[in-house]
Amino acid sequence: MADILVTWYSRSGSTEAVARALAERLGGDAAPILTSASYGGAGGFIRGVWDSLRRRAPAIQTDADPAAYRLVVVAGPIWAGKPAAPLRSFLRRYGPRAKSIAAVCVSGSGGAYPAAFAEIEDLAGSRLAARLCLSQAEALSGEAGPILDEFVRELRGTQVAAA
Ligand SMILES: Cc1cc2nc3c(=O)[nH]c(=O)nc-3n(C[C@H](O)[C@H](O)[C@H](O)COP(=O)(O)O)c2cc1C
Repeated sequence: MADILVTWYSRSGSTEAVARALAERLGGDAAPILTSASYGGAGGFIRGVWDSLRRRAPAIQTDADPAAYRLVVVAGPIWAGKPAAPLRSFLRRYGPRAKSIAAVCVSGSGGAYPAAFAEIEDLAGSRLAARLCLSQAEALSGEAGPILDEFVRELRGTQVAAA
């Protein structure tokens, strides 16, 4: 088992692409956050917006035990300006038990979404070790490579400082 976990929720694959690339760079374990809530199709999009606006937290499944890692990197899409609902569920359940958390958000716009990161910190019960915002276009193209390299350097720096 590695000492870093990269875990993500992804509805349409862009966050998953980034998360897997990060896990590879960090030599970390990679684990999806799964939900049986249906967010597929047009109906699912509307449900996603609704759940986000209502700050709902659907049931999720994960095989990982975040408390067992030195660092947990959580990744998920932005929905209606907030963390996607399954990411909220994960953070509510596991965030306070993680030793150190960093977060990556992927959105259509690639905006900074400070309120979304504030909610993530609130749910985790701690300050984020590092944060990264990417647009869906960056996530799905090779453009993200240098950005991910820089993020990994930042994460390694925070881990050395914390040791
Ligand atoms: C329900 C829903 C709400 C969204 N709300 C926003 C938003 O507020 N701002 C934005 O820039 N993109 C928004 N998007 C776009 C997603 O954040 C973007 O497509 C992201 O890359 C999806 O990640 P995924 O492929 O991992 O599911 C929304 C997408 C969905 C499905």
